[in-house]
Amino acid sequence: MAGIVVIGSQWGDEGKGKVIDFLAAKSDYTVRFHGGNNAGHTVINPKGEFVLHIIPSGIFNQNSIAVISNGVVVDPDVLVSEIALLEESGINIKGRLFISPRINLIMPYHKILDEVFEREKGAGKAGTTKRGIGPAYSDKVSYNGIRIGDLFDENRLTDKLKTQLLIKNKILSAFGEETLDQNEIEKNLLSFKRKISSFIKEPMEMLNLALAEGKQVLFEGAQGMFLDNDWGTYPFVTGSNSLISSVTSGAGVSMKKIEEIMGVAKAYTTRVGNGPFPTELDNKTGENLRKLGNEFGATTGRKRRCGWLDLELLRFGAKINGYTSFAITKLDVLDSFPEIKVSTHYLYKDKKINYEDLGIIDMNEIKPNYTTLKGWNDTTRGITKYSQLPIEAKKYLQFIEEELNIPITLISTGSKRNETIVL
Ligand code: GDP
Ligand code: IMO
Ligand code: MG
Repeated sequence: MAGIVVIGSQWGDEGKGKVIDFLAAKSDYTVRFHGGNNAGHTVINPKGEFVLHIIPSGIFNQNSIAVISNGVVVDPDVLVSEIALLEESGINIKGRLFISPRINLIMPYHKILDEVFEREKGAGKAGTTKRGIGPAYSDKVSYNGIRIGDLFDENRLTDKLKTQLLIKNKILSAFGEETLDQNEIEKNLLSFKRKISSFIKEPMEMLNLALAEGKQVLFEGAQGMFLDNDWGTYPFVTGSNSLISSVTSGAGVSMKKIEEIMGVAKAYTTRVGNGPFPTELDNKTGENLRKLGNEFGATTGRKRRCGWLDLELLRFGAKINGYTSFAITKLDVLDSFPEIKVSTHYLYKDKKINYEDLGIIDMNEIKPNYTTLKGWNDTTRGITKYSQLPIEAKKYLQFIEEELNIPITLISTGSKRNETIVL
């Protein structure tokens, strides 16, 4: 059995898509198990350049199966257009994409409410992707969700939608928004059902069987550890849990079946949207990181905030998720920096403080404690052998490894699939 979970260990956009596409060459299944199309996973391989929002990034291995499991929330239009995009690009997905009927749908009112909540919060807004993620998950949790399975019983769908519109139209009116029409939504949902019905099959049994047979199953985390709804920088988080535990709740697979838990970290840190960010560089160096790393959101195109690597984030993620290895991405982005800082821990009123102690203390009040390392001022872009890395780059990686006491098993030196070092 080989279940491998890939988890973003910062605030998302760590390069999970790139890492999954690379690992998928040897995998039989890739599974998206939480989140929705707030995710944007970039894959660059011989088939082209893609930003996948909902279909697993392992889809490019034609011998593998892609699964969207129950923990995901799906926007019908996004799923349909992503299927079409892949088919137009010559990626055959017939018979190798399975979608759980337990999936909650992102409804038109969820997207409007996401906009409305952000608008009403004003300066305190979260900076969501406005894809309807939070409202869709809150409906799921408060038993108001409409699931893909509901589309297969038209009477049930009509009843559920009627109830929801009764509630949602009142809320929309209160905020001065136009109310929604049941017939139109229902028509669109039934058209969606016809387009995707051949992919709908509960994948839980298939995944468990595959693991029992020793097949390799990759679980593709979305977002990142610090966008987790419980342990992230609440309320600047997302609607789902991005922890290892979501593999069980979101895909129906026991933790016992997981052999490897890989944390993916950028060689520095980025964040898109609002919320605390201790190592943020609101200066020329930060701008340089953004420019060299092309740090613009894959989903919304927004500027990503940039800063130095924060080891307390990775350490806390390791505690809670039990990472067995790290993948360090975008090492090449640091190529031209004369010196590179790393925050080893946090200080609060000059005393060391752990991330888990920030339940009452505001994260904005802590200070990162930096160690400065010498840069390598040499190109690492595209290097595929560890031995070819400049000595200072090796020292940087060794420093991270020693601080975290977890092996780095993959280093990414470029956005393309083969720009990768395996250790
Ligand atoms: P994800 O959401 O974690 O899959 O990450 P995104 O795709 O949103 O953002 C990562 C960005 O960095 C994408 O533009 C990737 O093409 C790019 N990328 C991934 N790995 C590397 C790398 O090692 N070096 C460079 N320069 N770019 C990378
Ligand atoms: P991937 O999988 C980076 C952020 C948003 C916002 C917060 C809440 O590509 O790493 P939401 O729309 O989820 O309600 O927004 O979470 N966010 C992400 N940031 N990468 C992502 O996904 C993200 N998904 C959500 O910017 O701050
Ligand atoms: Mg992304």
